[in-house]
Amino acid sequence: MIKHPFSQLARRTADPPISWLMKMALERPGLISLAAGFTDDLTLPVTESREFLQEILASPSVARAALQYGTTAGDQHLREVSAARLHQQDGPGAPSEQYQPERLLITHGSQQLLYLVTECLCDPGDIVLVEDPTYFVYLGILQSHGLEARGVRMEEDGLDLSHLEQVLERLREKDQLRRLKFLYLVSYFQNPTGITTSLEKKKSILDLLRQFEKAAGHPIYLLEDAAYRDLQFSGRSQPSCLAAPGAEQRVIYAGTYSKPFATGIRVGYGLLPESLLQVALRVKANHDFGTSNLLQQILLKALSSHRYEDHLEVLRKRYRKKAGMMLEAIEAHFPAEAKWVTPEGGLYVWVRLSRQARTGVKSPLFQWALENNVLYVPGELCYAPDPTRRPPRNEMRLSFGSAHDPDIREGIKRLGQALRKITL
Ligand SMILES: Cc1ncc(COP(=O)(O)O)c(C=O)c1O
Repeated sequence: MIKHPFSQLARRTADPPISWLMKMALERPGLISLAAGFTDDLTLPVTESREFLQEILASPSVARAALQYGTTAGDQHLREVSAARLHQQDGPGAPSEQYQPERLLITHGSQQLLYLVTECLCDPGDIVLVEDPTYFVYLGILQSHGLEARGVRMEEDGLDLSHLEQVLERLREKDQLRRLKFLYLVSYFQNPTGITTSLEKKKSILDLLRQFEKAAGHPIYLLEDAAYRDLQFSGRSQPSCLAAPGAEQRVIYAGTYSKPFATGIRVGYGLLPESLLQVALRVKANHDFGTSNLLQQILLKALSSHRYEDHLEVLRKRYRKKAGMMLEAIEAHFPAEAKWVTPEGGLYVWVRLSRQARTGVKSPLFQWALENNVLYVPGELCYAPDPTRRPPRNEMRLSFGSAHDPDIREGIKRLGQALRKITL
């Protein structure tokens, strides 16, 4: 038996569920995947991307620049356009010094930003607060780095502030605040629940974190993951945490063009407090010394020609329709005890079943669904392994992102049949 000299990080890193969920969705013909967060195939910007590529490659000098390495921080023009767009989204009341392009870093999807920030702020044994439930792929990053995740309960409009205070108080009592580095918040149409945190709540969260900084002996950051912000079905999105008082030194904003444009053109960005940005740039330089320049140029073309915004309108309508279709099917086929959050954007519907129903990977429901070619994300994957509480086991995340319309209806119908069979 060979003993491999793997690092502690390698040995700690469990097989991320995202890998097998995505693999299964791609490799099993006939499978209706309501699981992994793929986006809608039919609305991917094929024409736009072809035209942008042709434009970029038409001029030899532009083409050569795009086919060359860029800088670690990313294309200057893309940073400017991204910072200005973010300021515009947050509204004229938001302080303009927050949105300087110099504070913005282009990354390979927002996933890379999440990884970088965690790597820059945390050592093994440190603590990160997460929503309960949260984006399960992020839990993998925490687990891999040997970090402790503490779950903070959620309400219909975001984090439960009194529970956040309790968790912080408990950390203070146990003298563990020094190990607490930040709170990770998926603030718009959260993955997995679809819930959006209001600006008022964001302000209160920042205030609360500040109150415990003295005891922590360092700033406690707020990492705002706005991955689904652009996918609001209608109207304008609420301002981000960057618009809250005191955000400048505390808020880390992770944005992305991946879900709202093309997941295959994986460009994201982060807006960071100055001191943290410098460290993140050094670490990113060691990772890849810059995000693919060609992909950045495609995005830049999309953003500066307004075709990004035009495409968004198409996407928003499409996802609103698909969400409606999924909700109608749930209403028609799921048992009466099922409860769900009606999303106003994003890609997900979070369903809570009756107490005795089990949704986990080993549950008869999951196995029956798989045998009948339907895949969902078991809710328990989205809860941090927090020894201070037992997570619910009767929830599921359903995505209306990639499945075609008839498959959404059929998939939910089959799940409904499975639920009746198993809970009878
Ligand atoms: C909450 C959340 N954050 C970040 C990401 C990463 O997206 P990307 O790296 O494509 O920007 C995802 C992807 O599913 C997500 O759901």
